[in-house]
Amino acid sequence: MNASLLQGPKGHFFWGNVPEFAGDTLTFMRDIRQYGDMARIRLGPATVYILNHPDPIHQVLVADSDNYNKDRRLKGAMQELAGNGLFTSDGEFWKRQRRLSQPAFHSARIANYAQTMVNYAVDMVDHWESGQVYEMDREMTRVTLRIVTKTLFDADVSTEARELAELTKAAIKIFNHRMNAPVPLPNWLPTAANREMREVSEKLNKVLLGIIAERRKHGEDQGDLLSMLLLAQDQDGSGQMTDQQVRDEAMTLYGAGHETTANTLTWVWYLLSQHPEVEARLGHELDTVLGGRAPALEDLPRLVYTEMIIKETMRLYPALLFVSRESIANTMIGNYPLKKGSLIFINIYGVQHDARFFPDPEAFDPERFSPEREKTIMRYAYLPFGAGPRICIGNMFAMMEAKLILATVAQRYRFALEPGHVVVPRRQFTTVPQERLRMVAAVR
Ligand code: HEM
Repeated sequence: MNASLLQGPKGHFFWGNVPEFAGDTLTFMRDIRQYGDMARIRLGPATVYILNHPDPIHQVLVADSDNYNKDRRLKGAMQELAGNGLFTSDGEFWKRQRRLSQPAFHSARIANYAQTMVNYAVDMVDHWESGQVYEMDREMTRVTLRIVTKTLFDADVSTEARELAELTKAAIKIFNHRMNAPVPLPNWLPTAANREMREVSEKLNKVLLGIIAERRKHGEDQGDLLSMLLLAQDQDGSGQMTDQQVRDEAMTLYGAGHETTANTLTWVWYLLSQHPEVEARLGHELDTVLGGRAPALEDLPRLVYTEMIIKETMRLYPALLFVSRESIANTMIGNYPLKKGSLIFINIYGVQHDARFFPDPEAFDPERFSPEREKTIMRYAYLPFGAGPRICIGNMFAMMEAKLILATVAQRYRFALEPGHVVVPRRQFTTVPQERLRMVAAVR
């Protein structure tokens, strides 16, 4: 079979499918499956193959994962920010970094962070009042940012922490701008955005390398993720990471470790406000398990419905709509030969909204993830954290954090959308509400 026979929507002669793709990415990714389990589109000069079925997805992410790198466009857009960190590196280098970073995410290690997560969530709700309007997307970003700052750098309100937050916000804005450009421009072009990114990343380097140098001086394990990165060594005792590499990994975790979880929780609040029956059942579980006290690590296994809600939210609104790859050799997907350098999008949003794998796919139904029913979901049809060797390294951290924050907050408050507020999802890099999610808090 010839890959040029694969179908896709007819695009503009020059831009290809950029206008529809960039305009409403969610609808585009949901509807593209009408062209088959593997579709073909064009984004400017680039042909992109979109995988809409668990079989080819398994092939690319798992079975033949060595044939693929992260795609060059993503790496280019993230270059100054994430450098050679886990998210953007490839090959043997990535393998070694993953091996060195993995212990920092073992369940015993991240269990220590549960208390920090709860403390910050409690601190947030302690400041809230019934009847007030809160921008829930902002609140969720603030609390997850505080948590990642503490668990990564053992810092809270220091000058460095504030500076990091400001600089990262600016860098993510430029990164989003780059990702949404119809045709990616090289980073060396002296555009205003590129100049700003260079300035921001120089400042970021100064702060991060300063923190690292300070830590190296003391050399002790402070119990945070940074200590793990600094102390990590290969089993034979060789090869600590260089300061620059620790900087790239720390920046990657800082960036990847808060927006995604914050967005997931933002969608949880929205969905709960639209489904009072789900919210009531959640309230019942929290009352039964916690009886009015703040949650703790030991409660997590019993917060079953809380977890079902989060999983179903990540099905409807996965933080990443798709993940992308680039083939590093001539290869085959199914019966289709692809040339080296082909770009591939794994359509997470598409498969998670496909009636073949999730009947009545647009309905919010946490029951899909009840312990019995979850087992019947087709493998690789549900991928909010990706799959295969490059599955999200922070997935357990994120689930623990989302559950603890949801349990802490929902125990005390319920939220209604501000009257007249219409919520439209939109893709930045992650999936966010188009407008701030303004909600009125009411004490439960
Ligand atoms: C709800 C929250 C989260 C979601 C939905 C999410 C989603 C993902 C996905 C889909 C990938 C795979 C990307 C690919 O295959 O191209 C990924 C990778 C990654 N995530 Fe997460 N993530 C979340 C939270 C976190 C947290 C809390 C951290 C760190 C503290 C983190 C760190 C990373 C890193 C470092 C990678 C790259 C792993 C590698 O390539 O080896 N993520 N994430």
